[in-house]
Amino acid sequence: MDRRTLKDLDEAEVRGRRIFVRVDLNVPLNEDGSVADPGRIQGTLATLEALSKQGGRLVLVSHLGRPDGAPDPAYSLAPVARELSDLAGVPVPLLEGAPEDPGLRQAVDALGDGEMALLENVRFHPGETRNDPEFTRALAELADHFVSDAFGTAHRAHASTVGVPTIVRERGGRAVAGLLMARELRFLDRELQDPRRPFVAVLGGAKISGKIELIESILHRVDRLLVGGAMANTFLLALGLQVGRSLVEEDRVEVARELLERWGERIVLPVDCVVAPEVKEGAEVEVRRRDEIGAEDRVADVGPETVALFASELQAARTVVWNGPMGVFEVPPFDRGTRDVARALAEATDDGTVSIVGGGDSAAAAVASGLADRITHISSGGGAALELLAGKVLPGVDVLESSLD
Ligand code: 3PG
Repeated sequence: MDRRTLKDLDEAEVRGRRIFVRVDLNVPLNEDGSVADPGRIQGTLATLEALSKQGGRLVLVSHLGRPDGAPDPAYSLAPVARELSDLAGVPVPLLEGAPEDPGLRQAVDALGDGEMALLENVRFHPGETRNDPEFTRALAELADHFVSDAFGTAHRAHASTVGVPTIVRERGGRAVAGLLMARELRFLDRELQDPRRPFVAVLGGAKISGKIELIESILHRVDRLLVGGAMANTFLLALGLQVGRSLVEEDRVEVARELLERWGERIVLPVDCVVAPEVKEGAEVEVRRRDEIGAEDRVADVGPETVALFASELQAARTVVWNGPMGVFEVPPFDRGTRDVARALAEATDDGTVSIVGGGDSAAAAVASGLADRITHISSGGGAALELLAGKVLPGVDVLESSLD
């Protein structure tokens, strides 16, 4: 179903009005606090420029990380506001305080046509993740219309993603998709609703736990699921193999066993692994077959035979969705498996496979390996893209106006 976008807004509706723009500026930061990957900021610039050109007064709202519902300088959006200001070439002040604070309201009211300001991390307020009615009402007081460009957060039913657009629409305001959101939906809906087959998913990363319900739904839809990352260790344990001192989720072994029993033919696990006594930069590594992992070993990446096996599955696929790194990507040399799989995916794409990469680390691997141009679509959402793949309705999308309204 098509969602209405900001192209459906008349200039008369935008000019001089407060446009609450939910963006996902949850970007990785360097140790010195600067922005490590501005991809999500760049991704939303077109929306901000379009709204600003039409004379909207933009109130930008985002979260950063998972602070505990209270202000925490480690999660301040201040560096993001600076980066956004540099990239957009206009001042973007950071507005602190609760939405009901008179100072904050005055600052929003003082915005001129075409100007923008970014509210401090919306998760500094406990009402955000709870979609608390009182907090939502206060936030919605800052909005005449609502635009969502936060595809990466569209799977969260929070105050700023679902509560505010609901109130805005009840008041007769508009709630539409931004350009980034519209592009993501157009692409992912089109490719995932009736994917060209074989349809292959590649899942990695550290944890099964957040993804376990999704894995089952994904297995219903794909022809093959290639599993790497620490998540694979839990599956190897479920096969009765040893994984030494590797990261595993003991309490998920039984679920992994059930998945293997039911879907064994579709699940492809690593056949060899890169191990080290310690996961640190420049560590001495060894490659082990998966049935030869020693008691002191830590599995930190997939091995070369696994890369070859995954590459042959990718070469045979017509559609591939990839989420999550194959190893401890941020610590070289354990980035190798992820980079090699990214290269194999780029090669398959050259041969006509539709490739979709979502999730910070896998997207970063494609970018860092210089392969971004050879991937069909790099999504700004990890979890959100995965939920779409699992066939779920995203609450932050469902709340927006559709062509059927
Ligand atoms: C993401 O990076 O996946 C989104 O910004 C959502 O973040 P969350 O998982 O903390 O809700």
